[in-house]
Amino acid sequence: MIEFNNVSKIYKKDFAAVKNINLHIEAGEFLFIVGKSGAGKSTLIKLLLKEINPTEGSIKYNEQDVTKIRKRNLAEYRRKIGFVFQDYRLLPRLTVYENIAFAMEMICCSSKNIRREIPVVLSMVGLSDKAKSYPDELSGGEQQRVSIARAVVNRPETIIADEPTGNLDPETSSEIMKIFNEINKRGTTVIMATHDREIVNNYQRRVVELKNGLILRDTKSGGRVNEPKKD
Ligand SMILES: Nc1ncnc2c1ncn2[C@@H]1O[C@H](COP(=O)(O)OP(=O)(O)OP(=O)(O)O)[C@@H](O)[C@H]1O
Ligand SMILES: [Mg+2]
Repeated sequence: MIEFNNVSKIYKKDFAAVKNINLHIEAGEFLFIVGKSGAGKSTLIKLLLKEINPTEGSIKYNEQDVTKIRKRNLAEYRRKIGFVFQDYRLLPRLTVYENIAFAMEMICCSSKNIRREIPVVLSMVGLSDKAKSYPDELSGGEQQRVSIARAVVNRPETIIADEPTGNLDPETSSEIMKIFNEINKRGTTVIMATHDREIVNNYQRRVVELKNGLILRDTKSGGRVNEPKKD
């Protein structure tokens, strides 16, 4: 479904943030991308979202060459993908309900559809009683749940999350992970960059470990991350 073929990204001369990446992701997979700060995790995600283009190589999404998507077709491409960020990125002047409605209006959903779907996703993330709250009236974990609801409401084929639990305590992180797990069980492909060793080790899914822009390891399932070596 998603293919990186010999992908490199050079931001500045002679420095490749990712190098010669070959990665194939099947529909329905749950994939963790791990590695130290600066290893290239976010770069890989930005390449897939076409926020940046590779310096070399090709990226395919359902046989479509991502690097060749025209500007006018970009919104249509990104509609297939929901994303969740570490810092939630909710619109502060809109309520929870309005934040999600706004994401739906962007892709021209009917108001009937909006009224029907929002209660469904809010209930999925356990926030039915917060529809009228503003983001600054919510805890970090609640804000992240709103951002997940917003990402899934349009039923994307793929959810990409960059450090979605980066700002959350372990207990809240584990609740957020349960939601991602549910979403994956329904058939959505989940790709998640994370620093959280405990989460990766608990879930035992496919783990791709990056080091200095290279794939150090690709464990198909049952993947774990070890304690960093003391050297
Ligand atoms: N826009 C940019 N211009 C120049 N260099 C960049 C740019 N973005 C990232 N880099 C460099 O590319 C490398 C990989 O960065 P990236 O953000 O992909 O790492 P990461 O694995 O996501 O790290 P973190 O865990 O800290 O989020 C780093 O050395 C970073 O400094
Ligand atoms: Mg990053």
